[in-house]
Amino acid sequence: MSDRSLLVLPGDGIGPEVMAEVMRIIDWYGDKRDLAFDVSEDLVGGAAYDAHGTPLTDATMERAQNVDAVLLGAVGGPKYDALDFSVKPERGLLRLRKEMDLFANLRPAQCFDALADFSSLKREVVAGLDIMIVRELTSGVYFGEPRGIFEEGNERVGVNTQRYTESEIARVARAAFELARRRANRVCSMEKANVMESGVLWRDVVQEVHDAEYGDVQLSHMYADAGAMQLTRWPKQFDVIVTDNLFGDLLSDLAAMLTGSLGMLPSASLGAPMANGRPKALYEPVHGSAPDIAGQGKANPCACILSFAMALRYSFDEGEEADRLERAVEQVLAQGVRTADLLNVEGASPATTREMGDAVIKA
Ligand code: NAI
Ligand code: MG
Repeated sequence: MSDRSLLVLPGDGIGPEVMAEVMRIIDWYGDKRDLAFDVSEDLVGGAAYDAHGTPLTDATMERAQNVDAVLLGAVGGPKYDALDFSVKPERGLLRLRKEMDLFANLRPAQCFDALADFSSLKREVVAGLDIMIVRELTSGVYFGEPRGIFEEGNERVGVNTQRYTESEIARVARAAFELARRRANRVCSMEKANVMESGVLWRDVVQEVHDAEYGDVQLSHMYADAGAMQLTRWPKQFDVIVTDNLFGDLLSDLAAMLTGSLGMLPSASLGAPMANGRPKALYEPVHGSAPDIAGQGKANPCACILSFAMALRYSFDEGEEADRLERAVEQVLAQGVRTADLLNVEGASPATTREMGDAVIKA
């Protein structure tokens, strides 16, 4: 037994394929670095629906609540598209996020030098890029009431409500400031305080939390639309960006694409600290189940591998080991080992999922 517990939920499509490579890396840490994990595995998404008629059983939910970190592959696929909304694979993931109360979604945008020419932006704009977007994940306009489509006079009206409490803003702000202290010590908070009251409160509360507890961190505020411009103009001006659920959804996807492929993008979703001091945590690649390439050994495992690196850093306080794993990925890319998604050269021969995993372990 170790005091590091992991629940692995491979899910659907390429999820199990990329997770298999992560499992080998986890074994490597136990063998070579004396860093053992208690790993249990369970079903989520379509795989859970096929076995149990629900995308996440209560028993799996219970297990997720009682481990240090959950590592998830991907859920969904065309097979499940016609299912009722209540049992769709995505509901399994949403239930995990909601019941674990994972309010801070960490979306790094990091440019590996070997992939700098792969970006749609100029090399000089993206080379060395390393930013972290913290998106509030459990509140805001995706959850606010009232919501719905109503009849008003002789037409329909669609309603969603942006709603944030002070405590919801404060806790995600703290998460951002804590991260900044481990990085370049800068936070830029983004909202639309010029046109939204919730944005005014957001700006005020972030500033108050800063002044009371994080005076050592450099804080700036930016309107989210200007932020979108700055992210494409000169993204290296940012370190940590903290923003609400809606703007974070857009800005994190925008920032992610500065660096190239979906196959390279990890994420973490963190909640409140547990009794042992570790935060509630779910780590997953940004990509989905990629049904178009599933079962063919073509999937890039790096997004999932880098998600495990985030687990090492944020759940297990093993920053050096996280660095080691990220350096291995970087080295493999520099050697020219590429899965198909990272090749824009006609006729070049791509590495398989397994070959990419092999190369990372060797590195
Ligand atoms: P997707 O991310 O699965 O795929 C988009 C494109 O990127 C595809 O062409 C795919 O082949 C490629 N791609 C994705 N990951 C890759 C990897 N690791 N290596 C190489 N290529 C990769 O998004 P899509 O196609 O919109 O959705 C497919 C299914 O996944 C749907 O059922 C969707 O609901 C689900 N999905 C699940 C997510 C999750 O589990 N968090 C997130 C997004 C979508
Ligand atoms: Mg999105």
